[in-house]
Amino acid sequence: MEHKFNRTLVTAALPYANGGVHIGHLAGVYVPADIYTRYLRLKGREVLYVCGSDEHGVPITIRARKEGCTPQDVVDRYHKLIKESFEGFGISFDVYSRTSSETHHKTAADFFRRLYDKGEFVERESEQYYDEEAQTFLADRYITGECPHCHAEGAYGDQCEKCGTALSPTELINPKSAVSGSKPVLRKTKHWYLPLDKHQAWLEPWITEQHREWRSNVMGQCKSWFDMGLQPRAVSRDLDWGIPVPVEGADGKVLYVWFDAPIGYISNTKELLPDTWEKWWKQPDTRLVHFIGKDNIVFHCIVFPAMLKAEGSYILPDNVPSNEFLNLEDDKISTSRNWAVWLHEYLVDMPGKQDVLRYVLTANAPETKDNNFTWRDFQARNNNELVAVYGNFVNRALQLTKKYYDGIVPAAGTLTEYDLETIREFRGVKEQVEKLIEEFRFRDAQKEAMNLARIGNKYLADSEPWKVIKTDPERVKTVINLSLQLVANLAIAFEPFLPFSSERLRDMLNVERPEWDRLGSTDLLPEGHQLNEPALLFEKIEDAVIEAQIQKLLDTKKANEAAAYKANPVRQDIAFEDFEKLDIRVGTVVECERVPKADKLLRFLIADGLENRTIVSGIAKHYNPEDLIGKQVCFIANLPPRKLRGIESQGMILSAENFDGGLSVLTVDREVKPGSEVK
Ligand code: 2FM
Ligand code: ZN
Repeated sequence: MEHKFNRTLVTAALPYANGGVHIGHLAGVYVPADIYTRYLRLKGREVLYVCGSDEHGVPITIRARKEGCTPQDVVDRYHKLIKESFEGFGISFDVYSRTSSETHHKTAADFFRRLYDKGEFVERESEQYYDEEAQTFLADRYITGECPHCHAEGAYGDQCEKCGTALSPTELINPKSAVSGSKPVLRKTKHWYLPLDKHQAWLEPWITEQHREWRSNVMGQCKSWFDMGLQPRAVSRDLDWGIPVPVEGADGKVLYVWFDAPIGYISNTKELLPDTWEKWWKQPDTRLVHFIGKDNIVFHCIVFPAMLKAEGSYILPDNVPSNEFLNLEDDKISTSRNWAVWLHEYLVDMPGKQDVLRYVLTANAPETKDNNFTWRDFQARNNNELVAVYGNFVNRALQLTKKYYDGIVPAAGTLTEYDLETIREFRGVKEQVEKLIEEFRFRDAQKEAMNLARIGNKYLADSEPWKVIKTDPERVKTVINLSLQLVANLAIAFEPFLPFSSERLRDMLNVERPEWDRLGSTDLLPEGHQLNEPALLFEKIEDAVIEAQIQKLLDTKKANEAAAYKANPVRQDIAFEDFEKLDIRVGTVVECERVPKADKLLRFLIADGLENRTIVSGIAKHYNPEDLIGKQVCFIANLPPRKLRGIESQGMILSAENFDGGLSVLTVDREVKPGSEVK
């Protein structure tokens, strides 16, 4: 395929400027895109890496409201923080701009206007939620309620974060305004829709037949959208933060954030290259590649291509490598719960260790499934791989050169069969790394680059120059020469992955950055070349450093527990007689099974001392039904019967809710007779 392209335009999802960026962002999008771009640059290809802050959308206005400042204040603050964090990690964007820029406002408005003029939108009046107290329409996240799928509370009008389902506000059960807390009413309003249903006819074969090479997670999501049948999507909102809809009679309406954000890729290219940007977006010999996280798949594979096609003069993405999610210490990363390793904090806590994080996140990249980051794994990978394998080889080769030859590269003599075998082995690395990077398989590519150091360590251990120096000093010259060539190869092979370390290594080797195509060569360092003073490339990370990071997370957990308790404080005093009205009993679970088509509910048959009563309880997410059979649980016995999914429930099983939402049923400390009262 590659032959038809002469340049590559790499985009990385524009992060929302309503918070910092964390390890999940880095692992999912920015490091893989950076590896890819750095690799292409080293290959001498024409490439551009474009990103910027996504500064519109409801969460930004909610944060501003909470903090008593303007949305512009919020995005100014976070744009700066995000930009600096990326710079700190060597993410080598050619441009990092923002969607509140003038260029972007104009570009996005013009794009909308062109689609409007071409008749590419459908105008529709529909009923949307309106907050009568705050006198405002409530878009997306301004509405919360119960998820109709998993029944989690606090689902948003555009998505349930618990189960990941995309929602529309009117699907929510018991909707509530996030502005005033009041119950919203439905009101008529006009919006512009992109008729994705009409685009399905070309989108479906374009993806499922012409792009079979896309990752299976991406293909899977696209197919499921196609199977459900694409629906028209509103591209405007009733809000006062965003890009005004550029048509008559659209007062108080702005472009939907997911309409303007991907156009940000275009605006930012334009800002960088005002005269030549069109070459990158409109010439079919440009390869467009979007790096994103899995929650962005539909927008980049379906919505944005439909917008580009409707406009008519743009190219479409050739690939959309999307990663799954990274968890932190077995828990979902969450900005609102502060469950994250923030990049700006890492830069302060671990100065000079950017490459360690880059390495660990790539070694553990969530390329095919969700993965987990733990501080212990971080430490182990640093100490056992970067220090013990890569750093150790480099250090031994450089120290021996210093010791035997005053840091001057010795001449290689006649190569033995073993030398030739070693050379053959490390020559093969180039092809492997290239193939893997071009297939977006960065974790395997990095592993392959690491093999160079393994080959080097084995070569030194087998050749034992420290012994041979006494018996055959000429032979040692060859061994050290070849080892140094391997070190110089490592600096090239790791340049896309660990740019800071490659630079330090080049400094020690006293060389300029060579081209990628020199990888595999045995003449990177000429005989007689003077090396600089060697220093350790990586350092061991001690337990205390890791324990401090783990403690930081434990503190976050504690703070969350305290906040959850505050949000749900001990309620007002009640009269003792009121407590006595509750008939709480202990029962033994006789049967327990899932309620079909209700993923939250379990049906219990409880021996209550008199008979077996049925109780339906919403704890299916927290237990395997079989594990509860035989347990003694506490339940309220005197509630009026209630029908749930057609089953009459005669009571309520009591559970404790953990701060993270986990439920744990109340049991008794010693076995008691079924029907015993709880007092
Ligand atoms: O999910 C997100 O963080 C979005 N801000 C990504 C936008 S990507 C692009 F389309 F701009
Ligand atoms: Zn849900």
